[in-house]
Amino acid sequence: MKVLFVCLGNICRSPTAHGVFEHVVAENGLAEVITVDSAGTGDWHLGEAPDPRSVQAAKKRHYDLSPLRARQVTRQDFFQFDYILAMDHNNLADLERIKPGEYQGELNLFLSYGKKSNMEDVPDPYYGLGDGFERVLNLIEQASDGLLNYIVKKHPL
Ligand code: 4NP
Repeated sequence: MKVLFVCLGNICRSPTAHGVFEHVVAENGLAEVITVDSAGTGDWHLGEAPDPRSVQAAKKRHYDLSPLRARQVTRQDFFQFDYILAMDHNNLADLERIKPGEYQGELNLFLSYGKKSNMEDVPDPYYGLGDGFERVLNLIEQASDGLLNYIVKKHPL
């Protein structure tokens, strides 16, 4: 099972989802069967490490984002990933445009798997004040638990 998280720059939200979900997967003993990756719809930050503010906020909760490097999503990703999960509606619309007609996986908003909040988009923290990064983590942590439950129920592993 392969899961790809997608945002705009691949330096704030999707690397955070990548690190958090990978951690949840490992905690549940599923690292051998669920592979996690992240990418951006844009190409401004290719090869860069995540934003230091994301790395720092994640580190306080014991997630290590420092090895991650930004890349751009491609049409080829649809042939690799069973789940392609967008951080917001803009990301989803961009992904819908490049999705091959025959894609059999799930292309969806990541927060649709989180049950506790009515939020549909993970707000972009890049231009905001510092607390946006904590908010991103809170939303991502609860959606990660929901996503793992969903995957495990749907595909008995
Ligand atoms: P992300 O945040 O999509 O969560 O990685 C952003 C990072 C960079 C830019 C926009 C959003 N940017 O315009 O460079």
